[in-house]
Amino acid sequence: MRGVVLAGGLGTRLGAVTRIVNKHLLPVYDKPMIYYPIQALVNAGIRDILIVTGGRNAGDFLRLLGNGREFGLQHIDYTYQEGEGGIAEALGLAEHVAQGQKICVILGDNIIERNIIQAVDDFRKQERGAKILLKKVHDPERFGVPELDGDSIVRIEEKPKQPKSPYAVTGIYMFDETVFEKIHRLSRSDRGELEITDVNNQYIQEGTMTWAELQGWWTDAGTIDSLRRATNLVAETGANLID
Ligand code: G1P
Repeated sequence: MRGVVLAGGLGTRLGAVTRIVNKHLLPVYDKPMIYYPIQALVNAGIRDILIVTGGRNAGDFLRLLGNGREFGLQHIDYTYQEGEGGIAEALGLAEHVAQGQKICVILGDNIIERNIIQAVDDFRKQERGAKILLKKVHDPERFGVPELDGDSIVRIEEKPKQPKSPYAVTGIYMFDETVFEKIHRLSRSDRGELEITDVNNQYIQEGTMTWAELQGWWTDAGTIDSLRRATNLVAETGANLID
């Protein structure tokens, strides 16, 4: 399985903090933010990793990470997203490296406490489709939110004003090779982006989406408050990161 870390975007929700520095290079406690999602993939046994970046300082990622020696990797692939086309557009750039394999995608600002290897191994055995990880949160309206019927997801709504469950769809997604056809079928949302939620809803309609509840804490780090929360959580309890 190939890993993809999505680290494009301009980070506008962080204001002046990201005017010069890419969001994913900001410190979360004692490491640059992007170290955490890379290590999460490595800990789950994924060694072929593509980083999708963009913006004015994309070269900084190469200078920081090189071939991934700090993570025990032999190489890292990089690609460049022009503009602000959304998560699904960024993921579309992974088509040439995926080469028919399953992929495990993680958003570059998602930080987790525990190892996701169990879910990744379950998805290796899943014949086709997709798998997402859900987490109960107190503010689901900030995220993609699943509507559940018993144990199955009926659909996902992106940032609903009235969430239909207390779960957030975390930024960890596992897809089979049909994800790229699904991305090609998307049209732009009201905010002008190709939405990952619309990709997930295609799998749900097809009846091939599975999910698991993420163990341990999870946070994004894309707003001033969540960045502080991420730093505090890592400082207090440690993250899924090997020193
Ligand atoms: C994105 C996704 C959302 C998901 C979240 C997880 O939101 O669109 O569905 O719940 O990541 O971090 P964004 O970071 O664009 O607000």
